[in-house]
Amino acid sequence: MDPSQVTIPPLKDLNIDNITENVILINSLCQDARMKYVLERLVSHLHDFARETRLSSDEWMAGIQFLTATGKICSDVRQEFILLSDVLGLSLLVDSINHPKPPNSTEGTVLGPFHTHEAPTLGQGESISQDPAGEPLLVACSVRDTRGNPIEQVKIDIWETDSTGHYDVQHADRQGPDGRCVMRSDAQGNFWFRAIKPVPYPIPHDGPVGALLKKLHRHPYRPSHMHFMFEKEGYDHLITSLYLHNDPYETSDAVFGVKDTLVVDLGRVDAALAAKYGVAEGAWLMTYDFVLVTESETADLRAYNSKVALDKLGRKVKIVNGLPIPDLD
Ligand SMILES: [Fe+2]
Repeated sequence: MDPSQVTIPPLKDLNIDNITENVILINSLCQDARMKYVLERLVSHLHDFARETRLSSDEWMAGIQFLTATGKICSDVRQEFILLSDVLGLSLLVDSINHPKPPNSTEGTVLGPFHTHEAPTLGQGESISQDPAGEPLLVACSVRDTRGNPIEQVKIDIWETDSTGHYDVQHADRQGPDGRCVMRSDAQGNFWFRAIKPVPYPIPHDGPVGALLKKLHRHPYRPSHMHFMFEKEGYDHLITSLYLHNDPYETSDAVFGVKDTLVVDLGRVDAALAAKYGVAEGAWLMTYDFVLVTESETADLRAYNSKVALDKLGRKVKIVNGLPIPDLD
């Protein structure tokens, strides 16, 4: 509906049955078609949730207090809301919707709350970890397009925990970044660096999200993994991770991030690789060939998926700026 055509009736005597349509009606004064659509669906689902569960006032207040506590524990280095989104499966869902992958491209997964922009830029072969207790690992990877061509000068963010399962930002006494770096692929699309073998770790569970998991009888562990983020103009931003095969939490990740195509078996550095990369023979070895999708291919696939999904729901939409809005024409 054209916002200028909206007539707001007296908002009085609203009840269980007509509150939703009236809230949506007044929100439809919004001039932004996408925001109007998102708010309409949000209010509709939120109200149905309350009606369907017969939400009690105590439960409503418990929810308010839970979200308040979640906000209060957030800081520059702690993002409890991302954690909440992660354990509810919302992060994985949003990533899957926004970054659809054609066959034979690398799947994405959750960003998690520990990426930072404070990371050193390293050259090929340098070490991202200063942890002497970690088991040495050589990571040797490539990045290509869907036709197999190497992509050079891709900006790659990499981050992992130390050998105790903590990211640098979780140490109150940290001196600077550790276990993370930014590097770029070379002319052949290759990049390699030294790191430590990832270990499983619990997500921070001393706050509201941890308390929620405990009530749900869920463990807070993530399987051993290393995070990667790829950025290059013209290509869809890829946020992903590699997971170690046979980790005790491989099939029960607290944040639902594991995908079979991202699970790897570690090898061992042999004499030839040790000489080539200048690392000790016998160190752990992780290899992977990442495949990026172009931005336009992703946009087309995302728009197609939106149309199909909303068609199934009986909604007529058009895609504007890459996102669906009701098609009222
Ligand atoms: Fe992580």
